[in-house]
Amino acid sequence: VSDTILKDVFNDYLKGSNYLFKNREVLRPDYIPKLLPHRDNQIVQIGKMLAPILKGSRGSNILIYGKTGTGKTAVIKKVIDYLLTKSVEINTNIMSSYINCRMIGTEYRIFANLCEKINIEIPFTGLSTKEVFDRFKYGLKSKNISFIVILDEVDALVLSSGDNILYNFTRINEYLDDSKLSIICISNDLNFKDLLDPRVLSSLGEEELVFPSYVAPEIYDILSERIKIAFNEDVVTSGALNLCAALISNEYGDIRRALDLLRIAGEMAERDKFKKITDSYIRIAKKKMDNDRVFSILNTLPIHSKLVLSSIYFLINEGIKEPKTGEVFKIYSNLCNQLKIKPLTQRRVSSLINELNITNILNTKVISLGRYGRTKKILLEIPLNSVKEIFLKDPLISIFFK
Ligand SMILES: Nc1ncnc2c1ncn2[C@@H]1O[C@H](COP(=O)(O)OP(=O)(O)OP(=O)(O)O)[C@@H](O)[C@H]1O
Ligand SMILES: [Mg+2]
Repeated sequence: VSDTILKDVFNDYLKGSNYLFKNREVLRPDYIPKLLPHRDNQIVQIGKMLAPILKGSRGSNILIYGKTGTGKTAVIKKVIDYLLTKSVEINTNIMSSYINCRMIGTEYRIFANLCEKINIEIPFTGLSTKEVFDRFKYGLKSKNISFIVILDEVDALVLSSGDNILYNFTRINEYLDDSKLSIICISNDLNFKDLLDPRVLSSLGEEELVFPSYVAPEIYDILSERIKIAFNEDVVTSGALNLCAALISNEYGDIRRALDLLRIAGEMAERDKFKKITDSYIRIAKKKMDNDRVFSILNTLPIHSKLVLSSIYFLINEGIKEPKTGEVFKIYSNLCNQLKIKPLTQRRVSSLINELNITNILNTKVISLGRYGRTKKILLEIPLNSVKEIFLKDPLISIFFK
């Protein structure tokens, strides 16, 4: 009996996916569509900054910012793609290496990656980081190429290893004769610049570019294009599309979430054997997506971040709507003492707060205290109750919430 039940499950699934989805894959976050509506401006600007490379000059170093899901990665990959195609056409020697610093987190592995690109073998361990970097430098010098390094999510690298690596990159052209290196750094932390030494900043940020968050009509256009290739005709109602654009623009215009929302709504409708994705499906999907997201972020936070967030929770619970870093630090230290773990410094706590800011769990505003320096005001961006509900299930810190 169980055999037939399972067969039905699969058959239903296959049949179902036929009438709603045409191609589910194009809703995945790493899919880059042919067209990127509302990014012409950025594409043209970056193109102009890199174009000199085609004539053998060094391209500008570029610093790109923008909140998550504003098309930074998609745009840069597209531009580099065009540039490389052009370079083949006109027979110039351009190479590029795209590195996601959140995935490839250490200097050693970044340099090893670059070496690999120019066919220099590097053992997995055994060399010093400096040695690997030198091999890249000398390798590059001997090859007469223009090399573009793209460091995506570079804030992750600087937070974990400092900006020394960036300094090395900005200095490298002094050693090169005919080869040239340009660096493109991408960050979704708008405060990223504060982490850099002014010397590094001035060389890296020869050109700066901000990707603004998408507004509702832009989200609408982008989704309309994607819906054409992802779903069968007339599956997504216009009400659903409008609502999806409105909900996501109300947050912070993250296209990735808009695409997720469509996919989840589609899967829900599919399971109900419903032939259309209506606005009610978007609404239910939104609720599910919000819960899932908060749950998974909070659950996977390192213990110190959990304690920082707990401290914010307690302050808000006491009626302090926008706690400041100093206040958070006091409660945090207290919680650490109760758990008998060593508190981090206030500076580290402040950078943990920045990290929570990036995930949009919090929103921080820097305010000036006159001659007493600066502090951050913290706004919790998720329901207060979610923090309690989720942390009540955490074996280590649930005691604080009972
Ligand atoms: N203008 C656009 N038109 C069509 N699709 C877009 C556009 N901008 C972004 N996207 C799509 O949205 C998703 C997220 O974009 P992308 O990965 O480039 O964001 P990001 O700015 O790099 O975000 P993060 O800072 O989180 O890395 C991708 O699937 C991308 O293809
Ligand atoms: Mg990206």
